[in-house]
Amino acid sequence: MSDFKLDQLETGVPVRLEKAGKSICVTRVGDLVFAIDDTCTHAEASLSEGDVSGFKIECWLHGAEFDLRTGEVITLPATIALATYPVRVDANSVTVEI
Ligand code: FES
Repeated sequence: MSDFKLDQLETGVPVRLEKAGKSICVTRVGDLVFAIDDTCTHAEASLSEGDVSGFKIECWLHGAEFDLRTGEVITLPATIALATYPVRVDANSVTVEI
């Protein structure tokens, strides 16, 4: 059972997925889809409400930026990387593997 259809996901528009007891931020960039923890490592903010630019997502609360591909911090004030999750894209089916 997939989590999304690829054509339901709009490039650069993150969505939140609740799966296996976790909140996950899922973002499509072109034909690629990335999954990271939805809660910013700086404080309690949902990254799926943030802004995406290329492979970067910016937290709406204090402006920390993370790399969607690796979860690494790009810009302070966050200093701790986000967990990332593998995503399987099979034709039009998108599954976050957790
Ligand atoms: S909560 Fe995300 S940068 Fe502060």
